[in-house]
Amino acid sequence: MLACRSFAAPARQCLRLAGSKQQLWIPALAQSRSYAIPTSEKVAKFKGQKGNDGKYTVTLIEGDGIGPEISQSVKDIYTAAGVPIKWESVDVTPRLKDGKTVIPDEAIDSVTRNFVALKGPLATPVGKGHVSLNLTLRRTFNLFANVRPCKSIAGYKTPYDNVDTVLIRENTEGEYSGIEHVVVDGVVQSIKLITREASERVLRFAFQHAQEIGRNKVRAVHKATIMKMSDGLFLNIAREIAKDFPNVEFDAELLDNTCLKMVTDPVPYNDKVLVMPNLYGDILSDMCAGLIGGLGLTPSGNIGSECSIFEAVHGSAPDIAGKGLANPTALLLSSIMMLQHMGLTDYADKIQNAIFKVLAEGKTITGDLGGKASTSQYAEAVMKAL
Ligand SMILES: NC(=O)c1ccc[n+]([C@@H]2O[C@H](COP(=O)([O-])OP(=O)(O)OC[C@H]3O[C@@H](n4cnc5c(N)ncnc54)[C@H](O)[C@@H]3O)[C@@H](O)[C@H]2O)c1
Repeated sequence: MLACRSFAAPARQCLRLAGSKQQLWIPALAQSRSYAIPTSEKVAKFKGQKGNDGKYTVTLIEGDGIGPEISQSVKDIYTAAGVPIKWESVDVTPRLKDGKTVIPDEAIDSVTRNFVALKGPLATPVGKGHVSLNLTLRRTFNLFANVRPCKSIAGYKTPYDNVDTVLIRENTEGEYSGIEHVVVDGVVQSIKLITREASERVLRFAFQHAQEIGRNKVRAVHKATIMKMSDGLFLNIAREIAKDFPNVEFDAELLDNTCLKMVTDPVPYNDKVLVMPNLYGDILSDMCAGLIGGLGLTPSGNIGSECSIFEAVHGSAPDIAGKGLANPTALLLSSIMMLQHMGLTDYADKIQNAIFKVLAEGKTITGDLGGKASTSQYAEAVMKAL
């Protein structure tokens, strides 16, 4: 008898397999067979509108630990740069609703209304019974693609000084579907779910993103040699979608080859967008972060059809929280991705150039980069460089 267990995922239905006593939890979307995104439609287009004051409203989740300190730097720099946005701060501390732990309705309403949010790190208590808030946000807003650019920063010495990778990770299914069960004592099974719908959406987004950032090559990373059906489906859909983008070169590479080649010489990856299923993206994106000096400088965007949430990759750094030592660069670079998503590219360029200038000079940098500046001293240097 198969014991069936589900991990806090919405929109799941329990299906009984034909002629079997087994039950499987399948996300509702996996059951829809006829599905297609019109080829001309832009996936995840920003839908926000300026208010009467000429400004966009952006939800700000300051987060835990160093979150409020690094958020303050972003706010100060944005004011100095005259960015036409106003912040709507929300608290995402979980609440009990109908016996379940949920994100407060006000926070969900704010992101839904504004279509975009900037998020500081959220601490996940270790132990049973705590669903990660980050995972909850991803599921609540169906943030289907995680975009992770990693670019070497002049002035910060790492083994390679010319890394410029862009990786897109499928964010909703694959090995992280949470479909696991005990077959018999001592034997567990974990199901890797790949659906046409989620694959097509993330792949189409990858091609569109490549065009937007001026790269004309997309590479799917896979293990279809071993996972012939699941990764095979992902790869076949990638080949189908590629036909809709004749100006973008498409090819595919086995995950193990990608890892070996990237750590040997990352430069050949600088002209491509890499796209891949969930687990591969999780691991490979951290590997790329390692190539540019770690998570502290790495931004990311979680892209959804309706709303998108941009966040630094690092955590809440409880060891340095409240001491004015935190480096706000990763959150700032995440906010630059947000501005690009919103079409505010002039402001994005202006702030990014100022950040890179301060880092390259190396005089006013924080302790994690080998400097002595406080969070606010670094932010002031960026404001001066604007
Ligand atoms: N996206 C997120 O919200 C996110 C991501 C990772 C971890 N977390 C959570 O954060 C908490 C702490 O996790 P952790 O300690 O494993 O990882 P962490 O990233 O918070 O810290 C690892 C190390 O890096 C340093 N560091 C991190 N960000 C820094 C910054 N901006 N400036 C200077 N130094 C920085 C810390 O001081 C620490 O020494 C946990 O509760 C974890 O669940 C949240």
